[in-house]
Order: sequence, then structure tokens, then C-alpha cells
Amino acid sequence: MKKIFTISGIVLLITCLSRCHKADLLPAERYDDRLSAGLATNFDASSHAFTHAIDGLSARDQRVHDLGDQTFESKFVAAPAPVFGGLGPIFNNVSCINCHRNDGGGLPTTGSATSGLLMRISQAGTDAYGGALAVSGYGTQVQDLAILGAKPEAHVNISYTEVPFTYPDGVVTSLRHPVYELQNLYTPISVPYMISPRLAPRLVGLGLLEKVPENTILAFVDDGDKNDDGITGKANYVYDAYANQIVIGRFGLKANAPSLLMQIAMAYQQDMGVTSYPTSQESAFGQSQYQSVTDIGSTELADSMLNYVTFYVKTLAVPARRNVTDPDVKAGSILFNQVNCTACHRATIYTGTESSTPQLSGQQIHPYTDLLLHDMGDGLADDRPDFRANGKEWRTQPLWGLGLMQKTTGTAYYLHDGRARTIEEAILWHDGEAKKSRDAFTQLTNQQRDQLMKFLNSL
Ligand code: HEC
Ligand code: HEC
Repeated sequence: MKKIFTISGIVLLITCLSRCHKADLLPAERYDDRLSAGLATNFDASSHAFTHAIDGLSARDQRVHDLGDQTFESKFVAAPAPVFGGLGPIFNNVSCINCHRNDGGGLPTTGSATSGLLMRISQAGTDAYGGALAVSGYGTQVQDLAILGAKPEAHVNISYTEVPFTYPDGVVTSLRHPVYELQNLYTPISVPYMISPRLAPRLVGLGLLEKVPENTILAFVDDGDKNDDGITGKANYVYDAYANQIVIGRFGLKANAPSLLMQIAMAYQQDMGVTSYPTSQESAFGQSQYQSVTDIGSTELADSMLNYVTFYVKTLAVPARRNVTDPDVKAGSILFNQVNCTACHRATIYTGTESSTPQLSGQQIHPYTDLLLHDMGDGLADDRPDFRANGKEWRTQPLWGLGLMQKTTGTAYYLHDGRARTIEEAILWHDGEAKKSRDAFTQLTNQQRDQLMKFLNSL
């Protein structure tokens, strides 16, 4: 036995020395185009495609993943309750899964159990750590639902106007322009305020993105646009309240969250009104409704449960690509490069080392993101800064899993607020740094646009 291990160890070492980028566990000859995430790829393409644990977890890790899964799906209720109590007093939804449908995206509606869109709010200036400055009585997020005895902060009204878009070849389509408005405020807002709509994104491969080395992300920045393609990119730096330091931002639609742990703890606190060890203060703290309806004491979510859910999200597999040998898909992949989508939607990245979960370690992944912020123009702007992200900047949305959104979410919506009903509409909204690329897309022939769509649907 020992000899076999030594021999395979030597073979692995030689393989690695000869062409390995990192200590990757999947030999290069076993890679094929379907593997979106190396060993963390899963081959289910059903409506449950985003819900699987990566293969080969130890029995203990699988158990932790499963416990996290249960918590992710559990509906919280107002305290006192034997389990999953502590909801509210104000909140946006009652469970993770209600917003991240089948671990996919959310529906762009507000104020109901099926709503996945939430509204951030702030006023001019920054807090002590450079983050958004809270609005008195509201904090930095509008909670549009409340438990019995409390009032929602506001109703978020969404209305759309259809505006036709004509391609250079005369083909016409329509884009819907959203307008957001806060109504039925529970207490008046006395300062000018900014709002930012955010739709729940799919939760794919985030454990891998957490392991992309910071140097890799920073190497994508093209300060001063040296290659003259109109694209610069910028990293966000955000405050990690748990580690008490400023770190590079990776999660959230403006790369405004430092880690999965903090992203999830903030979701419990802000989206559900459930406190946990990194975010132990109710979102309603300091507001008039706070004292009357909240029991002040220990945190509402056990430390272990927060850790389970974090491990669950971290160990969700990435769906494999489909139809990779289809000639149209292949042609579309070349076009994706030609019109320079890859300048932001980076096709190939290597993760760093992760000793506790080797499937996330040294993997060649195809997330189609650079994790950087880009100016996307006035049309997509929320005009609300978030740490170093300005009002026009958004994090390049990873495209893996894109083609399965329809199946997983039910009805798929795209972009940060779900205004795009199709992938094509999402592309047509690209502007700012992405304008050249968008224009190049509109100048493709109808057949080429089709091929590009087929490629995107294979992701
Ligand atoms: C009210 C709807 C809603 C609920 C409930 C919700 N989320 Fe989210 N989730 C969002 C939105 C919106 C974003 C984007 C936030 C941003 O840009 O800051 C997001 C982002 C995330 C991200 C980061 C994704 C990325 O690509 O960077 C993770 C991870 C996540 N949520 C996990 C959870 C977990 C776990 C729960 C349950 C504790 C949860 N969410 C509850 C709406 C929701
Ligand atoms: C300058 C960087 C940049 C370029 C170039 C770029 N994108 Fe994007 N892309 C982004 C950003 C940033 C977002 C998120 C925007 C938002 O949510 O408002 C995005 C979002 C998307 C989405 C929506 C994904 C989702 O799940 O909602 C699709 C689809 C997309 N891009 C495809 C493309 C294609 C195809 C091209 C080439 C024609 C392209 N992009 C070029 C930066 C870029």
C-alpha cells in the first residue's frame, strides 16, 4: 500500500512539476470543456442543478453541508419559538431559499413571500469605515415586511416603461426601464437619500470565488487603460466587521461584502432580522419600533447554525456546461472572445490553496468574472456608492450557471435588479466600460447573435 502511495505521489509530483499551475488535484488530461469548476463540477442540469454538494466530501463534511441546507431552507418565525425563532421585527423575507429560489436567482418583486428584490438606502457621506451612511430610522436597508405588532419601514414600488431598442440591422426588441419609489414610510425621512435595488443572485461556486487569490483579481485591473479597450476595472475594499479590518470585496453585487461568513451573517441580520455572532445587533436597533417588539439578549441564531449555512454555500457545486460540442456553441464561444466580453467575464481562473476542502483547492475554474467593479453607464446606475464602488459601478456578474437560470428560478431575471427578462436584454443594457463590447454585439449578424446566445446558454 505504502509503495503505491509513494509511486502515485511521485507521478503526481512529476505531473505537477511539468505543467501544473497549482497543486491541482485533477490532472490536466482529465479536463474537458464541460468542467466549469474542476473537481467542484456537478453534472445535474435539472431545476436542482445549483443545489448539490461538491462530490467527495467526507461523511462529516457532508453532514455539516446537509445541516446547513436545512437551515438555508427553514422559514424563520417571530420569537418566542422552539426553533428558527427571532424573525424581524422588520425583514425582507423569512428564509434564504425564498429569495434564492432553488439556490438560483430571485423574483424582482417586493413585499411578499416570493419576493427576492431588496432595497438598500443611505445618505450622502460615509460611515467610519468608508461604507454607506445610514439614514436615521432606516439604517442601510429598507425592510418592507414586519412581524405582528411592528410596521414595515416602507413599501417599495416598482414600475416599468418599455423602450424599443433597434439593432443596426433593423431587428427591434424592447427594454424595460424600472422606476423605484418608497411609499407608506413608517416615519418621514428628513434627509435626501439614495436607494439601490438588488435582486438575489444565484449561489453558484462561491466557495471557489472566495479562494481566488487577491493577486489574481488585482492583476485584472488595467489602470489607465493601457490596452485602450475602454475597460479598466477596480477592486472594492470593504470593512470586515468580524475580522475588524479592511479587505478586498468579493461578494454582493457591488463586491460590497468581504467573505461568505459576513455576507451570510448580514443576510440573516438585514434580510431576515435574525442576529448572529458577527452581526449581533438587530437591524431595527435605534429605531422607534426596536424596544417594543424585540427581546434583547443573546443572538437569535446559534453560532453552529451560521457556520453550517456558510459551509453549505461554500460547498455548493457548479453545474457542468452542456452542448459543448455543438458547432454553434463553439462558434458562439469564439464570438464571446471577439467582441471582448472576456475582458470582464474572465473565462479561466485558478483558485488558491484550501487545505480543508481539496475540491476547492488549485482548481481551474471558468466563472466568467474578474470580481472587479466596472462603470456600466447611466442606464444601470443606482447612483448610490457602496465602499469604493461608485453609483455606476457593479461587480462583473459570474456567468456560470447562466443557462440554467430559467429552470432553477422558474422565471429567470437578469442584472442587478432583474430588469432584463432575457440574456439578450441583459447584454443590451451594457454601457460605460462595456459600451464597445455591447456595440460589437449589436453589429453581429442575426445568426452570430444566435450562436453567442447558444454559447451563453451552455454555461
Ligand atoms: C430578501 C431576499 C434575500 C434573502 C432572504 C437572502 N438573500 Fe442572499 N442575496 C440577496 C441579494 C439581493 C443579494 C445581493 C446583495 C448585495 O448586492 O449586497 C444576495 C447575495 C447573497 C450572496 C452573495 C452572492 C454573490 O454572488 O456574491 C450570498 C452568499 C447569499 N446572498 C446567501 C444568502 C443566505 C445564506 C441567506 C439566508 C441567510 C440569504 N442569502 C438570504 C437576497 C436575499
Ligand atoms: C466592462 C465589463 C463588461 C463587459 C465588457 C461585459 N460585461 Fe457583462 N456584465 C458586466 C457587469 C458589471 C455585469 C453586472 C451588471 C448589473 O448587474 O447591472 C454584467 C452582467 C452580464 C449579464 C447578466 C448576468 C446575470 O446573471 O444577470 C450577462 C448575460 C452578461 N453580462 C453578458 C455579457 C456579454 C455577452 C458580453 C459581451 C458582449 C459582456 N457581458 C460584456 C460587465 C461586463
